Amino acid sequence: MKNINRALLQSELQEMQVYGETQVGWDENIPPNETVDSDGNPENRRFGAADPNSPKRRVYDDPEVEALRETLRKHNGIRGLEICEPSEVKKIARIFRRDGFVVVRDLLNAEQLARLRKGCAEALREILSIPGQGNRKYANETGRLPHRYSYGTSSASRHMLHHPAWASMIDLPTTTPIVTEIFGSSDYRVWGSGGDLCLPGAIEYQHLHSDVRDPQHLTEGRIKQAKLLGVELHKDESGNLSVATQKLIMELTSPLVTINFVMCDLTWENGPIRQIPGTHALQQSPPSPADEPDWMRHSTLVGATAGSGVFRDNRAWHGATPNLSKEIRALPNVEYSPMWRPQADYTKSMPHEIWETLTPHAQKMCEWIKADPGVLPAGAGFMHPLASKRTEAVEKQNS
Ligand SMILES: [Fe+2]
Repeated sequence: MKNINRALLQSELQEMQVYGETQVGWDENIPPNETVDSDGNPENRRFGAADPNSPKRRVYDDPEVEALRETLRKHNGIRGLEICEPSEVKKIARIFRRDGFVVVRDLLNAEQLARLRKGCAEALREILSIPGQGNRKYANETGRLPHRYSYGTSSASRHMLHHPAWASMIDLPTTTPIVTEIFGSSDYRVWGSGGDLCLPGAIEYQHLHSDVRDPQHLTEGRIKQAKLLGVELHKDESGNLSVATQKLIMELTSPLVTINFVMCDLTWENGPIRQIPGTHALQQSPPSPADEPDWMRHSTLVGATAGSGVFRDNRAWHGATPNLSKEIRALPNVEYSPMWRPQADYTKSMPHEIWETLTPHAQKMCEWIKADPGVLPAGAGFMHPLASKRTEAVEKQNS
């Protein structure tokens, strides 16, 4: 184990940005696949799955890392990935419905991108300033693979809508027409906001997963949305919706749609997100890491540039990939749900003072997540990688 210099680490964190080269990451004192419990103690994995093919050392020029880098250089990235212009609203929605995700360039202008990058670095600095056990540079986030963090779950409120940078992404001239086309109506809601990131040296593949389990209930609201999207409601001999119609409704109406904004160009080397096309309405589970074929491991969004975004049906199979570069890969997000998702599923994570700064459309979208005037949403503003500390902060606030 290498000794570490905490003062040097602090200065690395001060200089850190979520684009370009950084000294942050590549902590060889954190073993591959190590996860920690809610108090930060190494544990047996309780969430997700380990990567059985990971290099054995978290070292930039380790021979196994070099070999993986070579494979990624040759094979990483979806061939012929379509990248749309923001104005191609109909095409974007068509690809989204077909594949369960779509990449759109130039969603953010230079000023918006700079603001979000600054916010991402700020929040990450808070997370990484908590030292890891022993000689580890950083604390892992509870239950996650090393060097991988979620802005959402690292926040004690579970969301980032207390932060002006995240709130400012909700209603953009480039994104709102697209979200409206996807839902078939401008009446939808913001469910939350967060996003994930990986540090350089995140050598493991995250297992393929869906973010939400679709109960596939044919509620009145869901059928109404399908009609808005142009679905013809065919009946069978018993007078029920035909199976084909039911399937089509499920495919086209997702309970959760997310935009992940891209903070640095996604390359074959820096941990581009992988998305498996056409999996958003599947009931079967994705393959485990041991069974995952190479084509899925390489089905990543290489080529998406900084300022672009990925619209994701959160049911689609996806996962994070190795970041073997020297650059942090952050994908802050906003999450939207259709009106038929029950209000009980929402939590109040946005302070009233932030809500007041929003556009009228964004204010309407955020009705179900905004707190009353003068009330700080539970946990808002407290970032910590360990679950026990986040719980403590919320309890302290409530006492
Ligand atoms: Fe996910």
